[in-house]
Amino acid sequence: MCGIVGYIGHREAYPIIIEGLKRLEYRGYDSAGIALFDGTDLKVSKTKGKVADLENISEKEITKTGNVGIGHTRWATHGVPNDVNSHPHTSNSGDLVIIHNGIIENYESLKQELIARGYTFKSDTDTEVLINLIEDVKKQEDVKLGKAVQIALNQVIGAYAITVFDKNKPEEIVVARLGSPLAVGIGEDEFFIASDASPFIEYTKDAIYLEDEEMAIIRFHKGIKIRKIKDDSLVDPYIQKLQLNLEEIEKGGYDHFMLKEIHEQPKAITDTYRGRLLRDQAIIKMAGVEDNMKKFLNANRIIIVACGTSWHAGLVAEYIFEDLARIPVEVEYASEFRYRNPVIREDDVLIAISQSGETADTLAAIKLAKSKGAFVFGVCNVVGSSIARETDAGAYTHAGPEIGVASTKAFTTQITVLTLMALRLSRAKGTITSSEYRRHLLELEMIPGKVEKALESDAHIRYIADIYKDASNCLYLGRGYNFPVALEGALKLKEISYIHAEGYPAAEMKHGPIALIDENMPIVVIATKKGHYEKVVSNIQEIKSRKGKIIGIVTEGDEQVKELADHVIEVPETLESLSPLLTTIPLQLLSYYIAVMLDKNVDQPRNLAKSVTVE
Ligand code: F6R
Repeated sequence: MCGIVGYIGHREAYPIIIEGLKRLEYRGYDSAGIALFDGTDLKVSKTKGKVADLENISEKEITKTGNVGIGHTRWATHGVPNDVNSHPHTSNSGDLVIIHNGIIENYESLKQELIARGYTFKSDTDTEVLINLIEDVKKQEDVKLGKAVQIALNQVIGAYAITVFDKNKPEEIVVARLGSPLAVGIGEDEFFIASDASPFIEYTKDAIYLEDEEMAIIRFHKGIKIRKIKDDSLVDPYIQKLQLNLEEIEKGGYDHFMLKEIHEQPKAITDTYRGRLLRDQAIIKMAGVEDNMKKFLNANRIIIVACGTSWHAGLVAEYIFEDLARIPVEVEYASEFRYRNPVIREDDVLIAISQSGETADTLAAIKLAKSKGAFVFGVCNVVGSSIARETDAGAYTHAGPEIGVASTKAFTTQITVLTLMALRLSRAKGTITSSEYRRHLLELEMIPGKVEKALESDAHIRYIADIYKDASNCLYLGRGYNFPVALEGALKLKEISYIHAEGYPAAEMKHGPIALIDENMPIVVIATKKGHYEKVVSNIQEIKSRKGKIIGIVTEGDEQVKELADHVIEVPETLESLSPLLTTIPLQLLSYYIAVMLDKNVDQPRNLAKSVTVE
């Protein structure tokens, strides 16, 4: 959702906050703002637009000196993105200043109470209500800022990560979290606050991740105190050593993070199976699965919950778990599952898939399943994320930071983890023969090299992108394991190029979408040799007779589809169950090049945010 950065220490806060906001811009980028204490007064500068716009206006508006400050990059929830609704927000007295990520659900009733007590509001935001509530409590109860924040938060319903300070006591920053992430970097007599660790990675590797319902009072020269918001009890800070490197969060010569992340997939997939896939010994080692083998083997069924691209990875997993391990699987949108009173049994296993590990709906689905006694397993990329901590056990994807808003390497590494799990369970259940099992291990180990090969079609894909970049609609078709890939291909195209695209099971086309096909409609058909090749070829013939333009994703050396299609993009041959790891690659590149040619902001598409921490 929104990105939060704060600093208190001996350095100039401004450059740390601005650079930090740029790294967090993937979280939201419709407006940005900064508040600094310049030694005598509070200076606030904020604007609709990007962090670069903030830099431009803050040049003119504020002196950029001061050792205490907070900054925000926003993804609007309450109030349209404009200058007034941008964070930071100050209290009526002008003393207190806040930035906030999340939603205060009862803000309207709190606002009415504050209005009745004489408070006025400039913006439409819930955040301005919260800072005035804190001010009101501070005055009424005559308490210090930390206590006022605590009392106010106990009146709030919703989710938040907040950072607050008082210009009359600028040696102290108060932070708190419920449902939105917040990390505190611990330096030498200095503290960094951020939604994730990327803004302070070059200054310190020591970080504390606040847990839900915790707040911290951070004092220059004095240190940090963490308390439970509900009962005021003190919490022992747990300082984590960060593994992140600066290079991992930079573009490394690529034009966009998305392109870099597409090209990182061979390495990311290798990192995902490294130490887990031991082919020489014909072993898959996954501690989270091993330690809970009984739960998996006795499972009535597996329920997979996720959103967006992660949900597509879940659909691929449904095929592989059922196919190899013969365990019934249901794949659910987390947002639907959590609200539809689902039947959950104690012998159900729920697998939650999430790149960020912060998606609000997925987190809520996990809590629901746990409350019904199900065993919950997480597949996350971000180490230490809320979902990673909330689940009973899990497996990290080890894809490295994914910064482009459109998910790429997260998808293929999620599929890799889920494939390893399915193989391990099928071995334990005896639903796969030894030779089939070894064949899968061998083929999986060869996938990174084959992804590398698929990436070599880059120039050819750029050529195809140029032909179809002006299309208004596009269909993606696939069958079996490649049906979810068709959904993912369509999602990639629409989210970054804003071209309307639909993914469909190829055979289902006859039940409706075929009506859309004419000579202007590009149709991407995944038609690899393994699986339902002949059936897909018939579908291609049906499209051809209606004059649709066919882009076939085919196995190297394919001649039959080449004859029929307008264009083909080849991928190396592999097992059908592993084919999504290869067929996805050209679809990612196709979307990328179309979006670049249309001059869209590939890494930060409009209206989207990398991690959706509100429902
Ligand atoms: C699409 C995309 C989103 C995410 C979705 C879930 O490219 O990135 O659809 O997949 O918001 O996010 P995570 O995986 O972080 O839970």
